[in-house]
Amino acid sequence: MEGISNSKEERRKEGVSPLGRPADARYVKAGLGELPMHLMFLFARRFIAGETLDEALPRVKWMKERGLFTTVDLLGESVYETSRATKASQEYVELVERLASSGLDVNTSLKLTMLGLYISRGVCNENVMRVIDAVRRHNGFLRVDMEGSDCTDATLELVRLWHSSYKGVGTVIQAMLKRSPADVEVLLKEGIGIRLCKGAYKEPPSIAFKDKRDVDAAYVRLAERLLTSGIYHAIATHDERIIRHVIDFANSRGIGKDAFEFQMLYGIRRELQFRLVREGWRVRVYIPYGREWLKYTLRRLRERKENLFFVLKHLFTR
Ligand code: FDA
Repeated sequence: MEGISNSKEERRKEGVSPLGRPADARYVKAGLGELPMHLMFLFARRFIAGETLDEALPRVKWMKERGLFTTVDLLGESVYETSRATKASQEYVELVERLASSGLDVNTSLKLTMLGLYISRGVCNENVMRVIDAVRRHNGFLRVDMEGSDCTDATLELVRLWHSSYKGVGTVIQAMLKRSPADVEVLLKEGIGIRLCKGAYKEPPSIAFKDKRDVDAAYVRLAERLLTSGIYHAIATHDERIIRHVIDFANSRGIGKDAFEFQMLYGIRRELQFRLVREGWRVRVYIPYGREWLKYTLRRLRERKENLFFVLKHLFTR
């Protein structure tokens, strides 16, 4: 089976240093010129639970002790070498085993381009099946993250295939994509659990809403559709206005607090996470760890202009 057809060379050039570790490059392009890598790492530390599993697990445990659910993500994406994709799948198996042996939620999130989607669907399938087998042994859950729109079709097809053999597999829908209402219907028909997010990738206006108000309106429509589907889904946003709307909607329809969950990212709106837990809602925190933190961190940087101020302030006060 073929992988995704975009030129691999082009993709290699597209990124900042490929899956860069701080030591790989001293500067990174961040939309406002070049930023020193050490400064990026300082910023990244807010959003990642460490570079190793040993650093991340105590944070996962800390969340659990405070009533939060977790999903753990090993950072990495856009892998082009089969050996690296295979190694990533082995690291995921280790993650699953360590979560299980530590008595933590066996719930992980992964990106298919880390496990070989850009190499071929066959390689990706083999690697992800290795992870699913481990997850299945512990009756856990695997969430397949959604990446750029060049991956949407393949991701949905593969998730449907995997879900047909193990029910503890779900995926993500991005409200910003105009195709999402149709994709949601396909997934619902098969009983697949969805994490609904706004969408973190840059997409052209032909396929995606560009205005924040349009994205938010699309998000609310999809959230209501998911909540009334009778299937357990995840409402993934830090947008308090939308969260309040979802709560009012659930209350008005008699949808119980255990019928869905909220999800938020590690390092963002922690006080809101705890507030929702105190109110009795289920909240799951997405906890990324690993050395390949750069691309994930750049997405967090771009999402909010205050983040840029944080980085710039440190740049000029050092
Ligand atoms: P919005 O951007 O409107 O932000 C609402 C508020 O949240 C802001 O006012 C601010 O307070 C806070 N906030 C948001 N982003 C912040 C940031 N970077 N730094 C500091 N504060 C911030 N995307 C994707 O394309 N594929 C995926 O698989 C996933 N997976 C995923 C899992 C989970 C659990 C979450 C919460 C999100 C994702 N995303 C994602 C990311 C998602 O698409 C989106 O980019 C971010 O969640 C930001 O959008 P909000 O919904 O939070 O709203």
